[in-house]
Amino acid sequence: MGDRARRFAGRVAVVTGGATGIGRAIALRLAGEGATVAIADVNAGFGVETERDLRAMTPGSRFIPCDVSRAEDVQAMIAAVMAEHERIDVLVNDAGIPGPLVPVDQLADEAWDRVIGVNLRGVFLCTKYALPALLAAPRGAIVNIASTFGMVGAPNTPAYAASKGGVIALTRQLAVDLGPRGIRVNAVSPGYVDNDMDQRRTRMTPEAAAANFAAREAAAALQPLGRQADVAEIAAAVAFLASDEASFMTGAVAPVDGGCTAFFNLGHRPE
Ligand SMILES: NC(=O)c1ccc[n+]([C@@H]2O[C@H](COP(=O)([O-])OP(=O)(O)OC[C@H]3O[C@@H](n4cnc5c(N)ncnc54)[C@H](O)[C@@H]3O)[C@@H](O)[C@H]2O)c1
Repeated sequence: MGDRARRFAGRVAVVTGGATGIGRAIALRLAGEGATVAIADVNAGFGVETERDLRAMTPGSRFIPCDVSRAEDVQAMIAAVMAEHERIDVLVNDAGIPGPLVPVDQLADEAWDRVIGVNLRGVFLCTKYALPALLAAPRGAIVNIASTFGMVGAPNTPAYAASKGGVIALTRQLAVDLGPRGIRVNAVSPGYVDNDMDQRRTRMTPEAAAANFAAREAAAALQPLGRQADVAEIAAAVAFLASDEASFMTGAVAPVDGGCTAFFNLGHRPE
């Protein structure tokens, strides 16, 4: 293995939403490169499973139950990491929920609050409470997971789009405030990702989830690269931005989206 394969040796990373999907892939990638990883998630079943896989690479890695929208959970999670490892070098804010796919006049007020609470307030809380540890680290880095839907409009996603647009604005704002204090803050903006987020939607029947997945496949086929991303392709970009290789990057929002936000869609795939 070359040096690049051990970019996080001796470092500690917190990955919210790390039990499943993109967050799990990020946690595995960082641990594979030597990081001790704490995954903070509400899903204990998947959390314990991912913890086992992480520990096979870095034995100090662990799952910590945490709802990122709750300040007391976040404070306790950060305190647990600090009690055990006494440092946090990398914070990846990945935890997110899609919310109901409905137009604004059908969106319950509580659903709006929940989506904003997890996707945006969660990023604020984790950043705020991890900040003392990140400031103490020699090269602290934050990577937020945004979305194509935070950059361009898509049907029936008012709360999700607003939350991810907020994550993008917050990434840039934090880069301004925290750059002089030695912390880099960047975001990765995934497009269509081939995981089972849709199948896990609590409000969707398996049939509806399958139909939604098929629609995503079809939409992804129209984009420049013509397919959905593998979660590992998102994790690779996150690992780069979190690493010292990105030492002059802050405030960047990197689309990892197969070209979909570069493309003014004329109704057919570019030839
Ligand atoms: N899948 C995609 O196509 C796609 C595209 C763009 C952006 N994203 C973003 O990527 C991130 C990961 O999504 P994913 O596709 O892996 O979905 P996922 O559902 O597989 O993973 C999300 C994880 O976050 C956790 N989580 C949810 N609410 C939480 C809370 N309150 N506190 C802590 N953890 C919580 C879930 O338990 C889960 O482990 C999200 O922020 C999502 O918005 C996904």
